[in-house]
Amino acid sequence: MSLLIFLVQILAHTCRSPATSLNNTFLFNGFRPSDLNLSDSATVTRTGALSLTNGHLATNPGIKGHAFYPAILQFKKPPGAKKTHSFSTRFVFEIVSHFPESGGHGFAFVLAPATNFSQATGGSYLGLFNRENNGNPSNHVFAVEFDTVQQEKMNDKDGNHVGIDVNGANSSFLKPATYYTEFGKKEKVVLDCQTTIQAWIEYDGQGKQLNVTIAPLSHPLKPNCSLISYSIDLSPVLLEHMYVGFSDGIQKLESKHYILAWSFAMDGKAPELDLSRLPSIPRDHTPLWKSFKLFLFVSAALVALLFLIIRVGISYLIKRKRKLTSEKIEGWEMDYPHRLPYKKIYRATKGFKEELGKGGFGSVYKGVLPRSGIEVAVKRVSHGSKQGMREFVAELSSLGRMRHRNLVRPTPGL
Ligand SMILES: *[C@@H]1O[C@H](CO)[C@@H](O)[C@H](O)[C@H]1NC(C)=O
Ligand SMILES: *[C@@H]1O[C@H](CO)[C@@H](O)[C@H](O)[C@H]1NC(C)=O
Ligand SMILES: *[C@@H]1O[C@H](CO)[C@@H](O)[C@H](O)[C@H]1NC(C)=O
Ligand SMILES: *[C@@H]1O[C@H](CO)[C@@H](O)[C@H](O)[C@H]1NC(C)=O
Ligand SMILES: *[C@@H]1O[C@H](CO)[C@@H](O)[C@H](O)[C@H]1NC(C)=O
Ligand SMILES: *[C@@H]1O[C@H](CO)[C@@H](O)[C@H](O)[C@H]1NC(C)=O
Repeated sequence: MSLLIFLVQILAHTCRSPATSLNNTFLFNGFRPSDLNLSDSATVTRTGALSLTNGHLATNPGIKGHAFYPAILQFKKPPGAKKTHSFSTRFVFEIVSHFPESGGHGFAFVLAPATNFSQATGGSYLGLFNRENNGNPSNHVFAVEFDTVQQEKMNDKDGNHVGIDVNGANSSFLKPATYYTEFGKKEKVVLDCQTTIQAWIEYDGQGKQLNVTIAPLSHPLKPNCSLISYSIDLSPVLLEHMYVGFSDGIQKLESKHYILAWSFAMDGKAPELDLSRLPSIPRDHTPLWKSFKLFLFVSAALVALLFLIIRVGISYLIKRKRKLTSEKIEGWEMDYPHRLPYKKIYRATKGFKEELGKGGFGSVYKGVLPRSGIEVAVKRVSHGSKQGMREFVAELSSLGRMRHRNLVRPTPGL
C-alpha cells in the first residue's frame, strides 16, 4: 500500500508541467501559448517561438509586447525582506530586422512587481516606462536591455549594446555587444542581424554582483569571460515578489524579437537549454534572400529578352524569305498556262546564284528544275523596265513556237 502511494507520488511529481515546478526553477525549450502570460502584441508562433512584436511599423507611442512567467516569484526572504536571492537565467533570442545594425529598438529581460504596462511607451522606453515615470524609484523595475538603437537621450553610446536598466530606460551601465571566444578573443555580435544568440544573466545576492554574458549559437558553451560584470545591490529595487519575463517596444523602425528557449533558477544555476530543439522562426527579407530575388528577377528578364530577340529574329527571317519568294501575277502571264511560280524559280536558281551573263534589261542565271533535273537559263528582267518586259514577252512568244535541243519544252507540271 505504501509502495503504491510512493509510486503515485513519483508519477504526480514527474507529470508536473515546468510552469509549476518547485523552487522557482523552470525550463522552456520552445513555448506553448499557455506557458506564458502574453500581452499587447506578444504571441507564440506555431513553431513554438515567443514573438514579442509582430514587427509592423509603428508610430508614437509604438507597439509593445510583453511575456511573463505566469507565477509570481519570491526574490527576498521574509522577515524584513532585506536580502535578495541570487538568481540565474539563460535564454536564446534572435532579432530580425529589415536593416541590420540600424533596425528598431531592442528588447529587455525584466523583473517587475506588476505586469500591466498599458501606460508604458514603446520604442526607447522598451514598453516598460514612459516619459513621466522614467527613472522613478517607485517603479521597482529591473531590466537588462539588448538594444539595437543609439539613443542620445538615454545616454546610449552605441547602437548595438547590452545595458543595465534600473527603474528607467537610461542605462546605469552598458557595453557594446561582444563575446569572448574560447581563445579569449573579443568578438563583436551584431544583435539584429538574424544571429541566434544565447544570453546568461546571473545575480549574486550575497556578493551583489550582476554578470551578463552573450555568445552566438556557433559558440554554444558559456564564454569564460562575461560581457558585463557589474556591482549592484538590487535589494532596494526588487520587492519581495516579482514577475519575470520579457518586454519590447518598437517605433518607426521595424524589428522582430524572438525568444526561442528560456530557463530560470532562484538560488541556483539556470537549467541547460536544449539547443538542438530550438523552434524555427520565419526569416523574411534577409539581405541574402533579397539578392537571390534580385538574381531571379534579372535572370527572368534576361530570358524574356532572349526569347523576344529570337522571336523577332525568326519572324524577320520568315518575312524576308516570304518577301524573296513572293510574287505578283501580271496580266500578260495569263496567256501562258505553263507558268512556274517564282518560288520554284528561286529554288531552281538557288536564289539567282550563278549568273551566266548580262542581257538587255537584265541578267541570265543558271538553274536546275526540281524533279526533272533539267538545266535551264533564267532571265531576270530589271524591275520597272517596261520596254524590257515587252521585248521579253515577244521573245517568249517566238520561243514558244520554236523547237531546239537547247530549249526546254513547255511541259505541264514542271
Ligand atoms: C527546494 O528548496 C527547498 C529549500 O528552500 C529544499 O529543501 C528542497 O530540497 C528544494 N527542492 C528541490 C527539488 O530542489
Ligand atoms: C497570468 O494570468 C493568470 C490568469 O489570468 C493570472 O492569475 C496571473 O496573475 C497572470 N500572471 C501574470 C504574470 O500576469
Ligand atoms: C491596466 O491598467 C489600466 C490603468 O492603468 C487599466 O485601465 C486596465 O484595465 C489594466 N489592465 C489590466 C489587464 O488589468
Ligand atoms: C536620461 O538621460 C537624459 C539625457 O542624458 C536626461 O536628460 C534624463 O534626465 C535622464 N533621465 C533619467 C531618469 O535619468
Ligand atoms: C574556459 O576555460 C577553460 C580553461 O581555462 C577552457 O578549457 C574552456 O575551453 C574555456 N571555455 C570557453 C567556452 O571559452
Ligand atoms: C561574475 O563574474 C566574475 C568574474 O568575471 C565571477 O568572479 C563571479 O563569480 C561571477 N558572478 C556570478 C553571479 O556569476
